[in-house]
Order: sequence, then structure tokens, then C-alpha cells
Amino acid sequence: MAAPRGEFSSRFGFLMAASGSAVGLGNIWGFPTNAASNGGAAFLIAYLILAFALAYPALMAELIIGRYARSNAVTALRKISAGERSRAAAMLVGFIGIITVSLILSFYAIVSGWMIAFFFDPLARIINFDSASRWLTTDAVLRNSIFVVLFMLVTVIIIRAGVKDGIEKWASRLMPSLIIILILLIIYVLTLPGAMEGLRAYLVPDFSRIVEPALVVDAMGQAFFSLSLGVGTMLIYGSYISKEENLPTIGGLVALLDIGIAVLAGLLILPAMYVALANGVEIFDAEGGLIAGPGLIVSVLPALFNTMGSIGVFVALAFFLLMTIASLTSSISMLEVPVAYGVEHHGLERKNAAIIVGSIITIISLIVVFYFDPLFDMVVTFTTEVSQPLLGFSFCIFVAWIWRRNDILQEIKQGSPEAENGLFWKVWPFYVKYICPLAILVVYFQ
Ligand code: TRP
Repeated sequence: MAAPRGEFSSRFGFLMAASGSAVGLGNIWGFPTNAASNGGAAFLIAYLILAFALAYPALMAELIIGRYARSNAVTALRKISAGERSRAAAMLVGFIGIITVSLILSFYAIVSGWMIAFFFDPLARIINFDSASRWLTTDAVLRNSIFVVLFMLVTVIIIRAGVKDGIEKWASRLMPSLIIILILLIIYVLTLPGAMEGLRAYLVPDFSRIVEPALVVDAMGQAFFSLSLGVGTMLIYGSYISKEENLPTIGGLVALLDIGIAVLAGLLILPAMYVALANGVEIFDAEGGLIAGPGLIVSVLPALFNTMGSIGVFVALAFFLLMTIASLTSSISMLEVPVAYGVEHHGLERKNAAIIVGSIITIISLIVVFYFDPLFDMVVTFTTEVSQPLLGFSFCIFVAWIWRRNDILQEIKQGSPEAENGLFWKVWPFYVKYICPLAILVVYFQ
């Protein structure tokens, strides 16, 4: 067996790492545009309810299994399963989780690569490299490939360094920077003409839509993706938490940070879109909805920054730095899942595992870049809409129906000796046993 397992050195370190995983393109890009196209604050309310009522219990399931088993998802799920058949199922679920998260990383790296390219664009313009600027902002296989490789390289370098010197160290630097940049951008954008219109689109609820199945399905998918659930990411981070930590509390803090930053991002993106509208940029698509897909980030917002005069260059720099940081703290959490498996299950050295797995995922990513049109949407849909909900469902089943209840309680009690009488223990077991699996299935079959 390789070197001893890593552990986060402090509560702050864990919080930054786990919220860094949770806060990503899903929060800054996905959440605001989902809200805008689903009745503004009606979506926000549905999201808040689902995130606390469904995603938080599922997050806790992963954190508790992880810290109990102190291992990767495959080993951990096997450890909590007693019977022959449940152990086989554990192997399968853990393994599908590893494949799923690797595929998620393969498309995430492509989008993150765009963010880096758009970060370099204002730099190129500052030094009057116009042709470089055009190259950076024009969609092309060569550009996309180069930035995928660059992004994966940085991800691998951080993961190679381990839990404390890689994940924790970088998350603790990057997450506070992210929050500061986000707040500064919000303050600036809110002073511009048109911003209030955007705030209204975001915050005035259209309650007639809150019962629409599409809205609920979107809100739940968003909550699961945003909290990085179902694929063993939070499980592996949970496995690095000290036994002295109070799990329900820090899990709650992670959920709060994730939701809080998503809500904040809405205060940036929607006002920015309406400022763009006021400046003559088209923000509606052919059907009259707000542009939400890649067009939002790679055309609407850059067009807005271009209308801002010389300050626009700095706003663009800040914005794409924000996106790059958000991507990176998420991508490291994805790569850690297969790497930990390689280290613990196959006895690989961490440094080698990071390079081997990182290279495989980079190759998959490049294949998706080359055959973008058929593959990209397929990989996104399969991983986030099929695989992730089913895995989330399986995790709930493992915790509530297969794992011995007393073991769970003993695990929670470490770091929270009073847990048995607390609210969490009164509500959560029932939730993961009945409500979560049922809700996931209902939404899934919608
Ligand atoms: N939660 C991140 C976001 O909102 C993405 C992410 C990180 C993720 N790890 C994950 C998504 C694992 C699914 C599974 O962008």
C-alpha cells in the first residue's frame, strides 16, 4: 500500500475545498440562466427548497460514508455492505461513479478551456495583439485542444501535490479570491444603466410557474450538479475530514456557501445581460428567451465588455479569471475521484496516478473536441441527466437501506457527541430512506 492517506488540516481548508468543488460553472453560469428562463425568483425559491430538502441530505450521505470508510467510493461502498450481492452492487455503483465523473471532467475541461482563452483575450488586446485576440475568441479545434490540455495540466499539477499541499492549499487561496472578485463585479455592474431591469427579471417571481414540472426538474438537476453529488466527489472529500469535525454542521456550511454563491452570481449575470441590452447587444434568442447556452458567455458578455470602453478590458479580465478559478477548484475535485481509486485500489503512486488518469481524461476530452457536434451534448446529457441522478439514488439506498443504522450514528457522533438527540438525526434518516430516493425517481421519470 502507498503512502498514508491525506487529511484536510483545518475546518477552513475543508470548507474551501468542498465549496470549491461545489461552486463552479454550474453556479455562475448554470444557475442564473436557469433562473432567468424559469420564472426568475420562482426558480430561486424552488431551488432553495430542493437544495436544502434533497441535495443537502444526499450530500450528508456521501460525507458520512466517506469519513467512516476513509477511502474511495468503491472501497467505501463495499465496506458498508454486508451481503454478497450488495457488495457486488457497491462495486458497480462506485465504478460507474468513477467513469461518470471522469466523463464530466472531459466536457468540463473543454468549457473551462474557453474560459482561459477568453481570459487571455483582454491581455492580448492590452498589448495590441489583435490577431492573437481574434484567434483566442474564435471557436476552432486547435484553440480548443490547446486550452483543454493547458487546463488539464494545471488540474493534474494540483492533484499530484496531494490533499493538503494541492487541493487544500489551492482551494484556500482561490476561493476567497473568487468571492472578492464576484462581489466587486456585482457592485460595478449594478451601477450601470439597465442593471435594475436585470435585477427585476431575476428577483421578481412569476409564481404561476413554480408548479411547472420542467421548473422542478431543472431546479433539482441544478442542485445535484451544483453540489457535485452522486459520483463520489463529496465522498472522497469527506474521507479526508478529521474525526473531530461535526459533520452535519460543516455539510450545512458547504451547502450554504454553494447556494449563497449561486444566488450572488445571479446578481451579476442577469443585471449584466440587461446592461448589455441597454448597450445594444442582443440578449434574446429566436424563441424570445434569454440566451443561456455557450452564446451567453462567449458572445453576449464579451460584447458587453467591448461596449464598456477601456475599463471593459479589466472587467473582462476579472470576469474570466472568476470563471477560471471556479472551474479549477471543481475540476480538481473531479480528478481526485479516479486518482484516489487508482492509489488505494491499484496501489499506484499518487503522482503517477494523477498523470495516467489525467492523460486518459485529456484524450477523451480531445476526442470530444474533434467530434464536438455529435459528442458534446451526448456526454453532457448522459452524465448529468441519466447517470448522476441514478447514482444519487443508489447512494441514498446504500446509506439508508444497506448500511447499519447504528454504524451511521456512531460515525456522526464522532465530532458531534450530542448528535443522537439533535434535529439532524431526527429528520435525516427518514429523509434519505424515503423522501430522497422517491423524489429522485419522480423527477427522473418526468
Ligand atoms: N459542482 C460543480 C459546478 O457547479 C461541478 C462539479 C464538481 C461536479 N465536481 C462534480 C459536478 C462532480 C458533478 C459531479 O460547476
